[in-house]
Amino acid sequence: MSRSKRKWDHIQLALTTGQKRLAGFEDITFIHQSLPNTALKKANLCTKIGELHLSSPIFINGMTGGGGEKTLQLNRDLALAAKELDLAISVGSQMSALKDPSEKETYQVVRKENPNGIIIGNLGSEATVDQAKGAIDMIEANALQIHLNVVQELTMPEGDRDFRSALYRIEDIVRKTDVPIIVKEVGFGMNKETVSQLESVGVSAVDVGGFGGTNFAQIENERRERDLPFFNEWGIPTSISIVEAKNGCKGLSILGSGGIQTSLDIAKSIALGADAVGIAGYFLKILMNHGIESLIETIQAMHTELAIMMTALGAESIEDLQKTPIIISGHTHHWLNERSID
Ligand code: FNR
Repeated sequence: MSRSKRKWDHIQLALTTGQKRLAGFEDITFIHQSLPNTALKKANLCTKIGELHLSSPIFINGMTGGGGEKTLQLNRDLALAAKELDLAISVGSQMSALKDPSEKETYQVVRKENPNGIIIGNLGSEATVDQAKGAIDMIEANALQIHLNVVQELTMPEGDRDFRSALYRIEDIVRKTDVPIIVKEVGFGMNKETVSQLESVGVSAVDVGGFGGTNFAQIENERRERDLPFFNEWGIPTSISIVEAKNGCKGLSILGSGGIQTSLDIAKSIALGADAVGIAGYFLKILMNHGIESLIETIQAMHTELAIMMTALGAESIEDLQKTPIIISGHTHHWLNERSID
């Protein structure tokens, strides 16, 4: 199986298998506020990831690159949408372009289309310091995501089987590169102990990449008729993982992602403790099925709706929204109780 064929399979299967509503947001309810004492024009959506200032809490999460003309076009469109709306955007794993420089263009198009935007590079935790520097230089990245995808690798016949020393390599990259390092999951969530370990080696942010949206176990299983079906329901739902992450660190930026599709999911993620929210599969689906204009309109509507919800809740900033009281019920409540997390 060629790498580019695999990437295209992932894109196609993400559209069909991964877009269920299982991220746990139905367990989160806002407490209605009848005297919000604010105005819509006061709602400010600016936020920060580490030292990076963002004008929106929404970012386009890492998906693609490598693989030729089709992925180049997708990345170009995602970059144009990010530029139009002033969103941060991550590229997909750059390892293939480090190994085969003819693929670089499919990533560099993101910087070319958006010279002044916030663009985040992406590599797996097997990467060395030199590879991290190469990925950053390739797209003049403002930050680097390092993804942890143990379950995906184990589900792929050609995937990695040895996950030793990942934390050590991450620490080395943090020390020897000069951009913020964001460590992310890819749809299986992170627990608070992991987040605490990552904070101890100096990463700037974690992206929980929770269960409930794009499901790489299911995608890999579909590609070969369900080898490891027990991984299909494996992982920490996004709602829970954001709270785990918040409790596992003292001051990291928390990025909420995994199955986010609506402005309400975004508002709930922020109220649970996220500083920003990443969306991958849902944006890809809109782009591929309806085109770039539709993607831009969807994100514009998310911004408007988020500001409207903040007004109803009396929150004028993302920090205010993070302090908004919520009720947590159901499976999320049970989990947090079992784990003694407030
Ligand atoms: C991804 N994702 C991903 N993540 C990563 O760190 N490096 C990568 O190369 C990719 N590739 C990729 C391809 C495709 C087609 C999709 C849909 C996703 C994972 C992505 O960034 C995110 O963590 C998960 O998809 C969960 O978020 P959503 O899709 O539920 O919003």
